[in-house]
Amino acid sequence: MSDESMHSALVGPGSDWWKPAGRQEKIWVTVSFIWCIFMFAAMPFWHFKGGQNPSGTRGKVDPMAFYARTQKFIEDYSVGTDQGIPVVEPPAGSEVYLLGQMWMWSPVLKLKKGVEYTIHLSSLDLNHGFGLFPVNINIQVVPGYDYALKMTPTEAGEFKIICNEFCGIGHHLMIGKIIVED
Ligand code: CUA
Repeated sequence: MSDESMHSALVGPGSDWWKPAGRQEKIWVTVSFIWCIFMFAAMPFWHFKGGQNPSGTRGKVDPMAFYARTQKFIEDYSVGTDQGIPVVEPPAGSEVYLLGQMWMWSPVLKLKKGVEYTIHLSSLDLNHGFGLFPVNINIQVVPGYDYALKMTPTEAGEFKIICNEFCGIGHHLMIGKIIVED
């Protein structure tokens, strides 16, 4: 064997990139290209057709003003406490306030199935992530922004709100609750 025909880490294989691509390679490149275009088109298509985008409205709010609104909301409709966190039962169709802060969600919400509420989400300190478990609804909770979502609970039960955005040492303890009654 000559040095020319041996491949190793030191001796590379001979090059043939300048020769025309073979039939199979052309087919493969064509299929890949069509698939790329299809996947590219699927992104905007799914944005409109997928039905997974919440129809919320977002506005600026001073974090302390949002805190005050949440406190007022708690005072108005409080029905007790759950492990030190106020439990609130707002009337049907009302504006509901949920505050994220290091490291809790407040208050605990008691909602009625089939009734629409406008849920306002914001943070007092830094970026948190509203993750409704096990329904898998995920929304960024950002200080300085009030994100208002129209929500109608479709299922009775107890749902956990977990924090999906790393927010420090107590991140994993940041668990809230929504109770939906029939
Ligand atoms: Cu709040 Cu992680």
